[in-house]
Amino acid sequence: MAKTLIIGACGQIGSELSAKLREKHGKDNIIASDIREGSEDIMNAGPFEVLDATDFHALQDTILHYDIDTVYLMAAMLSGTAEKFPMKAWQLNMETLFNVLNLAKENKISKVFWPSSIAVFGPTTPKMDTPQQTVMEPSTVYGISKQAGERWCEYYFKRYGVDVRSIRYPGLISYKTPPGGGTTDYAIEIFHSAAKGEKYTSFLSEETALPMMYMDDAIKATIQLMEADADDVKVRSSYNLGGISFTPKVLADAIRKEVPGFEIDYEPDFRQPIADSWPSKIDDTEAQKDWNWQHEYDLEAMVSAMLKGVKSLK
Ligand SMILES: NC(=O)c1ccc[n+]([C@@H]2O[C@H](COP(=O)([O-])OP(=O)(O)OC[C@H]3O[C@@H](n4cnc5c(N)ncnc54)[C@H](O)[C@@H]3O)[C@@H](O)[C@H]2O)c1
Repeated sequence: MAKTLIIGACGQIGSELSAKLREKHGKDNIIASDIREGSEDIMNAGPFEVLDATDFHALQDTILHYDIDTVYLMAAMLSGTAEKFPMKAWQLNMETLFNVLNLAKENKISKVFWPSSIAVFGPTTPKMDTPQQTVMEPSTVYGISKQAGERWCEYYFKRYGVDVRSIRYPGLISYKTPPGGGTTDYAIEIFHSAAKGEKYTSFLSEETALPMMYMDDAIKATIQLMEADADDVKVRSSYNLGGISFTPKVLADAIRKEVPGFEIDYEPDFRQPIADSWPSKIDDTEAQKDWNWQHEYDLEAMVSAMLKGVKSLK
């Protein structure tokens, strides 16, 4: 059985992706790695390596040691944090991508997953039903790094035949691991407040609509894309992925149906202009057409799953 390396396995997405792939392919075939140690669940449920993915030689050694075939590169600095450390974000986001793409170019690995984001879009992009191909003038360092990354992925595919696949994730909502410093983190924090019976202060304004998705759908999409026939993967920059779209007010109203009396107020901070530069709703027709993508969780199902999940953590 071909072996898989997950880089950034202790993060919000990497932790759930590692668990799902271990369940699917057997724990010994999935090597989880991160620059830091993570939860016992991740580190004890299968092979785990502390690995800095900006270190090309350390990464190459791990790939050769475990005879890795496929890499999921989930390490990055996210949108909110990247605005505080622009150069560090650029360095981390680009160096890790080049390290993995170059190992694939040298045939040391045969398949790569690298996530992009709705942050590739900018204030001049159509906000509603944002198409796969459209104006892309990102105004954040995170968005610039993701857009550049997309261009490089397509370049490595066309020029060197590297089988790299990618999704522009919307804001991802989950409860098992804390979010990593993104602009959509409010849609996770709100559930922790609601479950404790506390009021939540949103760092985005009440009318800010953004594309979002429940984590189970994002993991399903990621694995589905990676299992698709190479010929069916027509987009080699990154696929638009829709899901649900809502504002903080709409989310609070949906939570109130299950938690009567839940209160919210709004104090927009430095993340508001980032959110304002992003689309409200994404068109993912290409993903539907090419690899049969369909999301499962609507707003109501996501709210129920999150409240149940957050309460189970206590
Ligand atoms: N979470 C979202 O809503 C979302 C949305 C769009 C795109 N994405 C993208 O998905 C990917 C994963 O996001 P996430 O939310 O899980 O992020 P996260 O911040 O929760 O996790 C990233 C992980 O990478 C690790 N890491 C950092 N530097 C590293 C290095 N040099 N070497 C190895 N590991 C390192 C961190 O320790 C962390 O565990 C990122 O590329 C992100 O841009 C996430």
